[in-house]
Formats: sequence, structure tokens, C-alpha cells
Amino acid sequence: MAGSGRLALRTLPGSGWVRGSGPAVLRRLQDSAVVQPGFLSKDEEETLSRELEPELRRRRYEYDHWDAAIHGFRETEKSRWSEASRAILQRVQSSAFDPGQTLLSRVHVLDLEPQGYIKPHVDSVKFCGATIAGLSLLSPSVMRLVHTQEPGQWLEMLLEPGSLYILRGSARYDFSHEILRDEESFFGDRRIPRSRRISVICRSLPEGLGPGQPGQPPPAC
Ligand code: OGA
Ligand code: MN
Repeated sequence: MAGSGRLALRTLPGSGWVRGSGPAVLRRLQDSAVVQPGFLSKDEEETLSRELEPELRRRRYEYDHWDAAIHGFRETEKSRWSEASRAILQRVQSSAFDPGQTLLSRVHVLDLEPQGYIKPHVDSVKFCGATIAGLSLLSPSVMRLVHTQEPGQWLEMLLEPGSLYILRGSARYDFSHEILRDEESFFGDRRIPRSRRISVICRSLPEGLGPGQPGQPPPAC
């Protein structure tokens, strides 16, 4: 499979972690859909998972009805972090956000079970500003972006454990994003088997909301 994966990467434009429907979309999203593989060290991945596990374990996986965006998940919004995790989140903030952007104070933690997945959606502008930055833990996955007006324009990002992705500007507003379910989890020809995946997602505050106003998203904004 690895061989055919490399072939797919050669025949479609993109880097090792991003592939798209053509050079135009890759150029268009070059600065607004970004993956940084290996953003976290193994120790940092463990720090986060160890801290999150007890909180997540208290919750049950939810299997919402057919039109919900996320299936097979549990989640929490976390505002108190250990010092080690705070240092990691600080690094996310300085890598993904502009100095002038204010972040939602509660970080969204989403735990997808192996069969869990996220359907295409655009985060609501009521609850989320111009930038979304997510850390992936445990399982690799594929995030697909599709232009909301021109579905032939798409981009896929391979999210390995320890990677950081950033969606901003056009990638955040003009494209839907989704996490592929296990049966559909391919990056080109390369099968990306899904197991349990935890994401830690930082979002900027909706535009027009000052830091004093809560503007907290409901689950899965
Ligand atoms: C969301 C979402 C992506 C992720 O919760 O709105 O798109 O990385 N999550 O889990
Ligand atoms: Mn989203």
C-alpha cells in the first residue's frame, strides 16, 4: 500500500500531507489550510492524552440522530490545564493565531471512537472566529475540505498523531471540513485506518466579541 500511496502523491499535486483537486486549490489554500506534522513531541502527546483521559472516560460516546454533524463522539470544553499542557497550548496560539486575535477561553476536546466521524460542515460564525487550530492525538485521520459553491474544488489533509492543522480565512469560511469515517479513510490510494482519535481544538473568538463576552460554542459548533 505504501508504494501506491507514493504513486498517488506523485500524480496529484500536493505535499506529503496535503493533496488537492488541482494546483489552483493548493495555491489558493496554501496559507489558509496548513498541516504541521510532528508539531508535538511524543512526550507532549502523552502529556495531553494522560490529562484528558480521566475527564473523557467519565462521559459516554454519543450517537446522534442522522443529521448531526458528529457521530460516535464524546467531548468536553476545558479551561483548566496543567502547566505542561498550558505551554503546549501557548505554542499552538503563537503558531496559528495572529497576536491581535483573542481565543475562546475554553478549548474544545473531541474524542471520536474508531467508528466515529465528522460530516462536512462549516463552523458557525456565531461561535467561532476566523481561525481554527487542532491537535490530533492517538489515530491518524484524513480531513477533507470541499468548496461550498464548487464541490469539484477539494483538499485533503493527512492528520497524523502529533500534528497541528490550521484553518483560517478562505479554508475556514468557503470550504466545509470533515473527518472521514474508517471505511472511507484514504489519502489518495493510501489507506489510513482509523482508530480512536482525540482532537484538541483552539478557536478564535467570533469577530465583534470582546474578550469580556463569553461567546462560548455549544458542542460541535
Ligand atoms: C468540529 C471539528 C475537527 C477535529 O468539532 O467542529 O470540525 O479535528 N473538529 O476534530
Ligand atoms: Mn468544525
